[in-house]
Amino acid sequence: MDKIQKIISLCKQRGFIFPSSEIYNGFGSCYDFGNLGVEMKQNIKKLWWDEMTKKQENIVGIDTSILMSPKIWQASGHLTTGFADELVECKKCHKRFKLDELTEKNKCPDCGENLTEPKKFNLMMKTFIGPVEDKANIAYLRPETCQGIYVNFLNVANSARMRIPFGIAQIGKAFRNEITPGNYIFRLREFEQMEAQFFINPSDKNKTPDDWFEYWKQQRLNWHIDLGIKKENLRAKEIPEKDRAHYAKRQIDIEYKFPFGWKEIEGVHNRGNYDLSNHSKHSSQNLEYFDEKTKEKYIPYIIETSVGVERSMLAFLCEAYTEIQGGRTETTKSIKDIEVMLKLNKKLCPIQIAILPLVKNKQEIIDKAKEIYNSLKIKFNCAYDEQGSVGKRYRRQDEIGTIYCLTIDFQTIEDDTLTIRDRDTMKQERIKIKDLPQILTEKLN
Ligand code: GAP
Repeated sequence: MDKIQKIISLCKQRGFIFPSSEIYNGFGSCYDFGNLGVEMKQNIKKLWWDEMTKKQENIVGIDTSILMSPKIWQASGHLTTGFADELVECKKCHKRFKLDELTEKNKCPDCGENLTEPKKFNLMMKTFIGPVEDKANIAYLRPETCQGIYVNFLNVANSARMRIPFGIAQIGKAFRNEITPGNYIFRLREFEQMEAQFFINPSDKNKTPDDWFEYWKQQRLNWHIDLGIKKENLRAKEIPEKDRAHYAKRQIDIEYKFPFGWKEIEGVHNRGNYDLSNHSKHSSQNLEYFDEKTKEKYIPYIIETSVGVERSMLAFLCEAYTEIQGGRTETTKSIKDIEVMLKLNKKLCPIQIAILPLVKNKQEIIDKAKEIYNSLKIKFNCAYDEQGSVGKRYRRQDEIGTIYCLTIDFQTIEDDTLTIRDRDTMKQERIKIKDLPQILTEKLN
């Protein structure tokens, strides 16, 4: 089995990710997130949110609706030529491909037969508002979250008294009718984006759009690296003009080396004044910003950073997935046995602490373990597990990336101590229960 298949299987078995609508044979490129998956996604989102709205200066949050006036998509270029993939179909096996993903542009990569001429295929997902399904009532599910930010640019600037340079951050669902979905949760039809739009003065000589672009590129590369992506598995690819998104004056794709190749996980774009000028034109509203200091009036430039929650999650999972030939724990029977570990960064792992009573037939041990679990579970992400030998339980926790296992044993009842086991070193230390909150806070921060 290749690495991605192993990750898919682990994620299904352990409650990270399930195929959507599985009892009906699944539903094209949609996935559901189980108890561990949802915790990991929450961690990613919280880490991004804190990075943008707390660590960075002068960025505030927003949460805009998924359904918006269709005029927005006219103005943004998504309904015209801007947001279409070129689609080709094999004349024999009728498989469809995105033209830009084919190395040979006129032969089917599966059966070698000729392909049809490319056709433009718009990726917007359509729906109808109200009871009548006619043209006048068409609406679209947003394909990117940032347009909700642009149309609220002046609302935020005025209500939150923001002065350029400033940013607006948003996390939310986006939808694209992708032609060739695939690679598990890499390319989905429904996904979540974490987007920050940073508004700048294009004629500021002290900090030019290129300076800001470099700043954001570096910030975003650091974010992935700080959360455990190895430098050698991450790169920033400058996109030449002919391949850029329709709105981008400059674009880099931050790519991760997935088991299926280098692929984009985040985009950093200099969108110039493309969006705000077009919204000004289409809405007949003046979206210029008035700079009180310099008395200048101008349409700001926007530097955008845009990362998918699921793509980021898949990169973290691929980076963390580790197999240990011959195993590390006493449960491993032979040298051929493989133990699996998720070496997730401690801020990302869905369970931080597992509480394990050594045996389940001694009531005092169970009571103590439950008491400890209840005292920690509000502050930390905890699991309680009393099923099977303690060795097997350690192995189960290693498999989902749990950082610490606390074992409550016979000595605990005598002297109020327990052992704390570290996932990465497997070292066990005996500590006093009363010191636990402080030790865990120090270790996990
Ligand atoms: N607002 C700019 C924008 O949407 P993009 O490069 O089209 O730019 C940004 O998308 C990010 O959103 C991507 O780097 C990726 O992480 C995520 N993304 C885009 N399409 C996706 C899809 N079909 N499935 C999962 N994630 C996707």
